[in-house]
Amino acid sequence: MATKSIEINLPDFIGKVFSYSEIDSTQVEAKRKIAQKCPVPFLIIAKSQTGGLGRFRRKWYSPTGGIYFTLTTKPVNNPAISLVVGIALVEILKTIIPERKFILKWPNDILADNEKIAGILAENFNNALLIGIGINTFENGKFNSIPCDENSRNEILLKFFKKLDFYFDKFDQKGFPYFLNKYIELTIPIGAEIEIFAPNEKITGFFSGITDDGRLILECDNKKIKFSNGEVSLRIG
Ligand code: BTN
Repeated sequence: MATKSIEINLPDFIGKVFSYSEIDSTQVEAKRKIAQKCPVPFLIIAKSQTGGLGRFRRKWYSPTGGIYFTLTTKPVNNPAISLVVGIALVEILKTIIPERKFILKWPNDILADNEKIAGILAENFNNALLIGIGINTFENGKFNSIPCDENSRNEILLKFFKKLDFYFDKFDQKGFPYFLNKYIELTIPIGAEIEIFAPNEKITGFFSGITDDGRLILECDNKKIKFSNGEVSLRIG
């Protein structure tokens, strides 16, 4: 059942907002709405999820107190858009919660003090782009989390969407190169040892940067190998 769960005025670029107190998954609901020809853009937001999904179809733990939403927009013909979403989110979290050390782990995981605290699931579906975000803002001893009350959660949402509005325009005009330095500043240091998990292999090397189109560059045996978002996952050495 749709219930009103947020009392803030989000920027117009988001389109219609559908709020739920509980849902299986905001990502799945967004796909259902698209299949029913619901016009984009729109936002699905929930206070909790019973079947939250992460990348590689992993489960996403989604108790009450966390932030869960899927922003659904027209398609964007550049996968680096998801890296830009990560930049916007880290920048906002850093300003609201300065006592934690937030960084991006390529492509767009968010770590606080070296452990994952938020994730982004960007998917193309039926000519729409779905950007699903989960942030651990619940009270819980088991998962890395930044416990927040409802006001702080709303502040995160409002500031994040305002920044995203601005960044989406910049991305339209200038592409990922405009964001490259910001990404490098917010991620692991160049030269850090990393492991890349591809479907059939694991490759160890050194982080050597990000390309103009958002691919990760790994230096291994004096060769530079580029990896696309979606194919692989990364472990910091
Ligand atoms: C990841 O890091 O694996 C991505 C996690 C994305 C989780 C969010 S929570 C809101 C939206 N609904 C889902 O079922 N998944 C995404």
